[in-house]
Amino acid sequence: MPRIINITLAGTTGIPGRNILAALLTYPPSSLTLSITVLKRTSDAAKPSDDPRPHTIYVDYTSPASLTSALTSTDVLISALHAEPAPYLDGILLSAAIEASGSVVRKARNKGPLIFISGYTLDVLHPSALAIANEQILGPKIDFARRLEREAEKGGIGYSTVVCAGFLDYILAKGYAGLDFPEKKARLFNKGEKGCTGCTLDFVGQCVVEIVRRWFDGSEEEVESVRNRRVRVAEVRYTGHELLELAQDITGERFDVEQVSTDELFAQGKESLERGEIDAAIGGFISKLAWDGEGAANLEQGLAFGLGRIERKSLRLIVEEAVEEVNAGSKFKGLGR
Ligand SMILES: NC(=O)c1ccc[n+]([C@@H]2O[C@H](COP(=O)([O-])OP(=O)(O)OC[C@H]3O[C@@H](n4cnc5c(N)ncnc54)[C@H](OP(=O)(O)O)[C@@H]3O)[C@@H](O)[C@H]2O)c1
Repeated sequence: MPRIINITLAGTTGIPGRNILAALLTYPPSSLTLSITVLKRTSDAAKPSDDPRPHTIYVDYTSPASLTSALTSTDVLISALHAEPAPYLDGILLSAAIEASGSVVRKARNKGPLIFISGYTLDVLHPSALAIANEQILGPKIDFARRLEREAEKGGIGYSTVVCAGFLDYILAKGYAGLDFPEKKARLFNKGEKGCTGCTLDFVGQCVVEIVRRWFDGSEEEVESVRNRRVRVAEVRYTGHELLELAQDITGERFDVEQVSTDELFAQGKESLERGEIDAAIGGFISKLAWDGEGAANLEQGLAFGLGRIERKSLRLIVEEAVEEVNAGSKFKGLGR
């Protein structure tokens, strides 16, 4: 009889959350049955559900007590909450998960520690990220990453952090990768020479499912690869130059190219920070880490994650789909920053 794994997911209406939910709901028959519960904000109780299939619990993310009771039967808690409040809300979720993990009900059922899955960004513990982080930018994510390590060491929780760098389909469609498809303009960061890796949102969803499979149905080596780890995943590796070449080839048009240095963007980011313009500052800091090729967003070892189990799209297909997406009016409009 398949083993039932209770999964609770927070942030399912968001950018990665909806894809993670879709991937979990289509998990193929195996020795595991995934039973999915979705957390929603109490303030959203009146809104119609996106998907009637998963069981929904309405919670107040700022109330540890309401969260703990929602998590008592949970084996895996997946948080994909909005980036801005996430370090704070994930902190409360984590405390509630630890509380639920050690609950009498759970111990009576002989369950191991609850597993907390989160992340979905570049490697915030990479030296290049640590070197530029401050209290407002990356600092809260770094503190949260270190807290996960400490809590796992104490044994109250297990964790896997999905380190995936940019959602390439999303950043291409949003124009954040330097390509403006409608205007046929391109910004080449550092001459477009530096390598980085990226993932589509579908791929990230599949990676989360694979992490769950490894925890509960993996070989010893597979369990070790995700147990209390920052799991690097990558679908494709690319340079800005390759993106531009593909964009021009696919659209059949030449793009006007502007050369940009990530050090200049970083310097502008620091000036924005001094003026208190946080969104602009984040742009400068993240551009540096995303496009300088130093390693916070160049996760080459992630290219081997889940090989043979998770399908990878080619860079060409990802750019083709982004061009189609933009031409059709992007589904990402109104989502994210
Ligand atoms: N790597 C990349 O390129 C990339 C790009 C974008 C985002 N991300 C990451 O993906 C994660 C989520 O992305 P996002 O920041 O753009 O958020 P988002 O996906 O737009 O929102 C996530 C969800 O958080 C929930 N939520 C709970 N409390 C909230 C609150 N106080 N304010 C707003 N939303 C709240 C909402 O779900 P409910 O309505 O269901 O409660 C919302 O749909 C973050 O970790 C972010 O860093 C990565």
